[in-house]
Amino acid sequence: MSVLRFPDGFLWGAATASYQIEGSPLADGAGASIWHRFSHTPGTTHNGDTGDVACDHYRRWQEDVALMREMGLKAYRFSISWSRVLPEGKGAVNPAGLDFYDRLVDALLEAGIQPMITLYHWDLPGALQDLGGWANREIVNWFGDYTQVVAQRLGDRVRLWATLNEPWVFTFLGYVQGYHAPGMRDLWAGLRAVHHALLAHGEAVARMRTILPEQARVGIVLNLAPQHPATDGEEDRAAAERVHTMNNALFMEPLMKGNYPALAEQMFGFAWPKVQSGDMERIAQPIDFIGVNYYSRGIVKHGEHGYLRAEGVGNEGALYTDMGWEVYPDGLCEILQWVHSEAPQLSLYVTENGAAFRDELQDDRVADGQRLEYLRQHFMQAHRAIQDGVPLKGYFVWSLMDNFEWAYGYSKRFGIVYVDYATQRRIWKDSARWYQQVIAANAVE
Ligand code: FCB
Repeated sequence: MSVLRFPDGFLWGAATASYQIEGSPLADGAGASIWHRFSHTPGTTHNGDTGDVACDHYRRWQEDVALMREMGLKAYRFSISWSRVLPEGKGAVNPAGLDFYDRLVDALLEAGIQPMITLYHWDLPGALQDLGGWANREIVNWFGDYTQVVAQRLGDRVRLWATLNEPWVFTFLGYVQGYHAPGMRDLWAGLRAVHHALLAHGEAVARMRTILPEQARVGIVLNLAPQHPATDGEEDRAAAERVHTMNNALFMEPLMKGNYPALAEQMFGFAWPKVQSGDMERIAQPIDFIGVNYYSRGIVKHGEHGYLRAEGVGNEGALYTDMGWEVYPDGLCEILQWVHSEAPQLSLYVTENGAAFRDELQDDRVADGQRLEYLRQHFMQAHRAIQDGVPLKGYFVWSLMDNFEWAYGYSKRFGIVYVDYATQRRIWKDSARWYQQVIAANAVE
């Protein structure tokens, strides 16, 4: 087998998110987030699981940084809990919350690991949800102010900044479909949330530009996936185009071109939010990178119902992960090429990629051959994209360790490190050992 070498300085990393790993959600003066409230609402998560303890990273962060150092990670993507920093979402700063991330950043740098901060990975302060959350246009300023507080404190040391993680997920799953916090089912509120999230991103970028040094790189993280028609028929192709528009173009077009896709306005016309003058310019602020979260593709056929009039189809014979997601490595190269064609001047990162499989801990070992193979094949597709001229600068595996997988609770394991929740012991899976070698060689075989 041939050896695929990556460019010098390629940023191999792993990713996590605050509510999924930290635990101690109310410690040291933190306010409750919408995920704290949601997971404590009966019937919302698998088994009633909550992030109360999670990986106890809030207390074990030093051990976790040591683990990352041993793995040889070049970078670590983590998110900041807004309600640790601003318990009410706005107003008074809680110094203890900021201190936590300050210490973490120092420890990472000390270990030679480059931090990438995600400012928002879904844990909105509950107090802001009481005011409407992302459906309230005021959030543009709330998020701007919060960003400013964090950038002022950490901007001297952190070079890589992402504003939002997957706005499609937290607006559509949180406000339209109700599977995620805050558990609403209101298309009108959801589409306002989309517009406000994009505006808030632009506002945060503008604020960071005035605070961060020139070398800082600012971007956004999107969940993007190719949407393939189930057949060549015209109806299926149109359905795939609608899903692509809602999932991918609804975010890429305003960010890159300063307008919403015409098809989106057509599809959602009745519920489309009010766009004020100046909004699109604010959304399309120049940025430095797009973070791509890729897990799988969609296969779409025509359907009769809903605004999408589309249905997902399975691929017989394909391998599926424990999430029920098709393993489709080619889609990573395809989506990176698409993003590059839409944003030719921007650097790209794979900010999340990985898989949940049913791991078994046996004799202190987790033989996760399927995850290892999943990652290997996706790394090869990333390499192919780079060969094709895509300016891919780094790759963050989801996830460093098993964690609270939102509505699925602890039932899905995405980590390359196994977490024994009863003891909080971290056990390297085979994929982690293998990843350590990939990083050391800066190459995949
Ligand atoms: C992404 C999320 C991340 C994790 C993975 C599996 O949508 O950003 O927090 O849940 O999926």
